[in-house]
Formats: sequence, structure tokens, C-alpha cells
Amino acid sequence: MGAEDGRGARPRGARGRRGSARGHDLARRRGEAGPAPRGLRPVTTGEPLLSVRDLAVSFATAEGTRVQALDGVSFDVPQGKTVGLVGESGCGKTATALSILRLLPAPSAQIDRGAIVFQGEDLLRLPERAMQRVRGGKIGMVFQEPLTALTPVYSVGAQVMEAIRLQERMSLKEAKTRAIELLRKVGLSHPAERFDSYPHELSGGMRQRVLLAMALAAPPRLLVADEPTSALDMALRAQIMALLADQARELGMSLLVITHDLPFVAEIAHEIVVLYAGQVVETGPPSRVLASPRHPYTQALVRSVPPAGSFRKRGEKRKALPTIEGSLPDPGSAPRGCRFAPRCPDVMDRCREEAPPLFVSSRPPASVRCFLHERAAEPGGGAA
Ligand SMILES: Nc1ncnc2c1ncn2[C@@H]1O[C@H](COP(=O)(O)OP(=O)(O)OP(=O)(O)O)[C@@H](O)[C@H]1O
Ligand code: SF4
Ligand SMILES: [Mg+2]
Repeated sequence: MGAEDGRGARPRGARGRRGSARGHDLARRRGEAGPAPRGLRPVTTGEPLLSVRDLAVSFATAEGTRVQALDGVSFDVPQGKTVGLVGESGCGKTATALSILRLLPAPSAQIDRGAIVFQGEDLLRLPERAMQRVRGGKIGMVFQEPLTALTPVYSVGAQVMEAIRLQERMSLKEAKTRAIELLRKVGLSHPAERFDSYPHELSGGMRQRVLLAMALAAPPRLLVADEPTSALDMALRAQIMALLADQARELGMSLLVITHDLPFVAEIAHEIVVLYAGQVVETGPPSRVLASPRHPYTQALVRSVPPAGSFRKRGEKRKALPTIEGSLPDPGSAPRGCRFAPRCPDVMDRCREEAPPLFVSSRPPASVRCFLHERAAEPGGGAA
């Protein structure tokens, strides 16, 4: 199955409200989805909105070989819920997001196998025309690089207007009024004055808000946000996460938030999915994943997070946080057994020979790809 080029979602205007800057308010925001806004089907079934199954993606290299960026990735995004996809740089987060939107770079990227079922349809089998409609309204995306995702030669206001007018016919005047309202609602200060600014004239946080306004120009059923906070300082990260959570709750959207920021996303997510070297290694509710991570990689990830409220006093030395020794395996030469084996403090002989499957348990729904948890797996559990 080949990957395709295409444009990101350019959805239509919607209602939102400004998020609080306080990180500790975030957990409160992880409520159930609110009533579906006009134009969206209400949530009526327990079926996941999005189901990624056994997704494998490879890229062509300059040497004429292929590297396996994703290898059997499976996870669900339930209706009206937020899933946080976390993992270190190069583990395959963006490749997952671009696969969902079918925006992987052609011709180098290839989807080798798997299914991406959205509202009962496998997106990988949809004709490109139908896929454009999905991108245009049902699935929105906030891209990783706000500066590159915005066109440098058009004002930010013009770009939000374009997103609105692509979805709904209206006069330029009406579209401008809607665009300013939308920019205000995503928390851009002085939106009327900033309407004519060019992307390079805005800060990273402001650009991120513009992208969010464009993605929310029509409330998509699912919003995929790839590293929406990585370019921002700590206070702004909390603000943008809060904004996302507010919008999701208010508009009844599902969210897939892709990030390095495990503690931030844990505050708003209903489920965490940890990726390592192109595979899911752990899933579970954020409270459990943070409090008692099972996979040695997740444990190292959690240990490397600064404890809440760990502010230094003036003159006090910065305490070094534990880091994860070593680096991700090259996707072209992943180890034969467990991919984490070269870095794992608990490695056993078996781990170097045999690849662990994902061991699944149901209370709470969780999974872990590690032989240390084989006994906890349920009959019929181990998979992927
Ligand atoms: N266009 C490409 N050509 C070749 N290899 C690619 C390409 N895009 C991604 N890859 C490879 O696929 C793997 C996954 O990349 P991806 O961009 O999904 O990582 P990521 O988890 O999003 O990282 P980051 O946190 O740095 O954004 C990496 O090994 C990367 O080198
Ligand atoms: S399977 Fe073995 S190497 Fe892999 S994470 Fe578990 S203990 Fe470590
Ligand atoms: Mg990325």
C-alpha cells in the first residue's frame, strides 16, 4: 500500500474558550465529552472512534534499502477521549500521525501492513477523494512545526480565513469576523491587531494557537496534535494542553496528543500509549503508568521527569535527573529479540533472542511488551 501526499485538514469555525494557564487545573479538564455540537453525530456506541491495528511503515533509504519505522503498532482512540502517544525522538510518533492522515511522504514512505479504522471504515482503503473529505472535516491535525506548517507569505488571519472558507461558503467579511472570533477563543491576545501579522512576527506560542484555530475551524471528530507544546516554555505548555483539553471537552472531540511531555499529557489523557523503536511497549491509564510503570523503558521515562513542584532556590545546584543510557536502535538494524534489550537494566538471556509480544491485562485495561510481566498476562492476551 503506497503512502500519499496531500494537504492537512483545513476545517471550519467552531466555538471554544480560553484555557487556564494553571497546570494543576488540567486534571479537572479530563472530563467526559460534552454534548456534540451542531453538525456532529452524537456519541452513541462503545466502539472506538479510531482503531490502529498492526500498522507497519517503512521508509526507503538513500542506499536503496528500507528502514522499518513502525512495526505492528496497535491502539484505540475511544469516542470523546484523549490518548497520549509518548516516546523519545525517532520512535515513530509522527509516522503514526501521518499514517492516520495518509500524509506520509511519497514515494519514500510505504505502509507495509495494518489497518486504520475510523468510524468503521479502513482509511487505508479509502479512495484519495474520500480521504480528502476525512482530512477536511472529520480528522484535524496540528503539525509538529508551527513555523513550517504555516505559509510564510500570508498573514495568519488570511490563513485562518482560508481554513474557514474551505469548509463553508461565506463572504470575506463574514470569514474575517469568524477568524478573529476563533483566534480570540484559542487565547490569542489582541486577535484583531494580530490578524494581519505574518507567522514570523509571532512567538512560538502564538503560532501554535493559530494552528489550533485553523484545526478547529470546523470541529473535527478527531484532532491529532503532534508535539503541540515542544517549542514552548513550561508555562505555555500547560496553557496549550489546557486549551486542547477544553476544546475536546466542549466540542465532544477525541484527541490524539503526541508528545515527549509525559507529565503534561498525563494530566489530560484518559490513556497513555508508550512507543519505543516503532512498537507499542506499554499502555494504560495515566495514573497507573505514572505511579507504577511496568516496562523498564517507561520506568526510565518516568524517572527522568522532574518531580512536581521541584523548583530550585536561588543559588541551589540543579539536581541531575536520571537519564536513559544508550539510544534508540537504528530502525534499519533493530535487535533480534527485545528492542530495549541493549539499554535494559533487567535484561535476561532470553530477551536477546526472543521478541516479547504485548501482554494484555484487563483491570485496568493495560498492556506491556516485556517478559517480566508474562505471568500477569491473561489467557488470549499476548498479541502484536
Ligand atoms: N522521510 C523520512 N525518510 C526516512 N526515514 C524517516 C523519514 N521520516 C521518518 N523517518 C524515520 O522513521 C523513524 C520514526 O520517525 P518519526 O518522525 O516518526 O519519529 P518521532 O517519534 O516523531 O520523533 P520526534 O520526537 O523527533 O518528532 C525515525 O527512525 C526516522 O529517522
Ligand atoms: S523483555 Fe527483557 S530486555 Fe525487554 S524490557 Fe523486558 S526485561 Fe528488558
Ligand atoms: Mg515527530
